[in-house]
This record gives sequence, structure tokens and C-alpha cells, in this order.
Amino acid sequence: MVVKKVELYDYRNYANLSVDFCGGINILCGDNAQGKTNLLEAIYFCSVGRSPRTPRDKELIKKGSERGKIKLTQEDRGGENTVEILLDVRENKRVAINGMPISRMGELMGAFAAVYFSPDEMRIIKDAPGDRRRFMDIALCRMSKSYFYLLGRYNKILSQRNRLLKSGKVTDDVLDVWDSQLVSAGAKIAKTRRGYVERLSKFASEAHEYLSDGKEKLYLEYEGFAGSEQEAAESFASELMRNRERDKMLCFTSVGIQKDDIAVKIGETDVRAYGSQGQQRTAALSLKLSEMELHGEQSGEYPVLLLDDVLSELDPYRQRKLIERSRKYQTVISCTHLPAEISSALGDYALYTVKSGQVSKELF
Ligand SMILES: Nc1ncnc2c1ncn2[C@@H]1O[C@H](COP(=O)(O)OP(=O)(O)O)[C@@H](O)[C@H]1O
Ligand SMILES: [Mg+2]
Repeated sequence: MVVKKVELYDYRNYANLSVDFCGGINILCGDNAQGKTNLLEAIYFCSVGRSPRTPRDKELIKKGSERGKIKLTQEDRGGENTVEILLDVRENKRVAINGMPISRMGELMGAFAAVYFSPDEMRIIKDAPGDRRRFMDIALCRMSKSYFYLLGRYNKILSQRNRLLKSGKVTDDVLDVWDSQLVSAGAKIAKTRRGYVERLSKFASEAHEYLSDGKEKLYLEYEGFAGSEQEAAESFASELMRNRERDKMLCFTSVGIQKDDIAVKIGETDVRAYGSQGQQRTAALSLKLSEMELHGEQSGEYPVLLLDDVLSELDPYRQRKLIERSRKYQTVISCTHLPAEISSALGDYALYTVKSGQVSKELF
């Protein structure tokens, strides 16, 4: 899958922009605060329907304007498709695929896939579990619309259960009904996540070995309800029952798949808590590269890889390795300057200069 063209209207610091991208490596070069991240953000937005930087869509509208728009043209084996995002200060965003408005965000899933990596995301390994859960959920939602809807259903049941607990008017009979629905959706999610992490681990291990020159063996483990869907349902139900009185006192649901995590290990070492900064960064990158590979294996098309300012965070060896690996995908890289160390690894690439919300292309 490749992004062929991005058009922006009153989006962030862009008034009106149209950029064509090449199939291989595309490099966005420019000083700070010129619009590099904004452009990558726009591409990613078309993939998951939200910014990697903010949950507030209205921040994306150019200051002083009432509306903004992103239009992305992608190409995959099925031909060309467009994704349009319309932003309005007074309304929720609207999304259209091939000019047809969609009514549910789930319909966007799978239309265009991109994986975004930035210095902020390097913290995915050491940060709280929420980021690793989001990573897993975004990847799964993109590969399966039914997972997207299932997760939505679980979150809705969970918030209704929590509201009930807070109301103080909760009875065991009513909780029994909510719990059985929560367990049914939760067990399906646990089974899907477990399967995903098991498959991902193989690719993450391979990527980490590649990036660390074969010195380290990384693997991932799903931390959630164990076993088959049936077994997960049984453990979830009994955990809910065991914590019921406590949940009533605390007024929220203390167990469930909203607590899941991914363990990241090198040998016996838990990299989340004990990894060096270098190991955590390499592991974060391995996780993103494994997402690329697994998505590619599942759908037959690689997502677009978006690398926002990450070269400056890596040592020259890893910079070169990352660039060499990126050549198998369509990659858009942003940087303030091209490090000399990577020029030999680059091969053909397209270079763009980003300055004050204008992008000019120089072919190489
Ligand atoms: N909604 C907005 N309207 C206008 N300008 C914006 C908006 N949001 C961000 N900007 C501007 O975009 C610039 C930052 O762009 P960014 O893409 O993050 O830069 P970089 O090239 O360093 O990645 C800043 O100058 C910021 O003021
Ligand atoms: Mg930036």
C-alpha cells in the first residue's frame, strides 16, 4: 500500500498543499516548527481517524479558520482510493472514502494503513500499560472491523457497569446481567489479543535481532486472561465475582481486559522495568517494525511507515539498519538534516524541503 498524494486545506500550518509521494523512501527535511510532523500526522490521521498527538481534532484546523480538510490518495492491489477527513470547529469530523461519507468510524479501518513512530513513541516500552494496549488495539482494529466493534461494545458495557456502581443503586441481579455481557465480549478480546501478541513476538524478535546485530533475543508475552476463549471467560467471571464487593465500594470495575499489558523481555529481563534506555528504544522500534510485518503477512500489503524525527534518537549503526530495512516499505521520514552516515544505505529516494507550511520536492 502506498500513499500517492496528500492534499491539505487549512490544516495546522498548511493553508493549501498538494504533495505527491514516491513508492520507496521519501525524506522530509526542514528546520524545527516548519510542518514536518503536521504532514506525517495528516497521513496517519487517514489511517486510524485520529491524530497520534492529540485527541482534540479541532486543534488540527488552521488557527483562524473554521474548517480544515485532509485528502489522501492511496494505491493498493485493488487500485486507487481516497480518504477525506473534514474538520469543522462547530461539528464532529466527517470522513469520506472515495467520496462516499461513512457513518461509522469502523468503516475507515483497513481503508489505509500507516504505522507512525516518533521520539515520543520510544517511550512505549517503559510507559504505563495503556500505551501498549492502545498499540495492540489500533493494530487489531485496522486488521479487523469486527474487533473494532467488539472493543467498542466492551467499553460501552464497562462504562455502563461503572455508572451503575457509582449510582449506589446496584443490586446483584443487575450486576449478574452486566457481568455476563462483559465476560462474553472480554473473553473474545483476550483470545484475539493473545493470538496477536504470539504472532507479533516472532516478528519483534526478528526485528530486534536485526537491529541489535544478533546480540539480543527479544520476545513478547500477552499479560491477560490465559487459555482459550472459554477458559478466559471462566477466569474473568470468577475474578469479577471475587472483586464484586470491592468494586461496589470503589465504584468502578477493577478487573478485566482494560488492565491487559504486553510483557517485553530480553532473556529473563523485563525490558519495561529493567531495560537500558538503548534497549527500550530498540525494543520500541522492533515493536513498530513487527507491526509492519504482521500487517503485511495478514493482508498481503505493507502499511506505510512514518518515521518522525527518529534518526536523531538512534546511534549511527541503528540509523543505517533502520534505513536499510525501511527500503522494503514505502517510508516517509522527517529530519532536520540528513545524517552523513546513512547516505550509503539510502539508495534511491525522494527529498522534500519543508519550510513554513510549503513543501518542495527535489528528486534523487
Ligand atoms: N492549528 C494550527 N494552526 C496553525 N499553525 C499550527 C497549528 N498547529 C500547529 N501549528 C504550527 O505548526 C508548526 C509546527 O509544525 P510541526 O509539524 O510540529 O513542525 P516540525 O517541522 O518541527 O515537525 C508550529 O509553527 C505551530 O505553531
Ligand atoms: Mg516534528
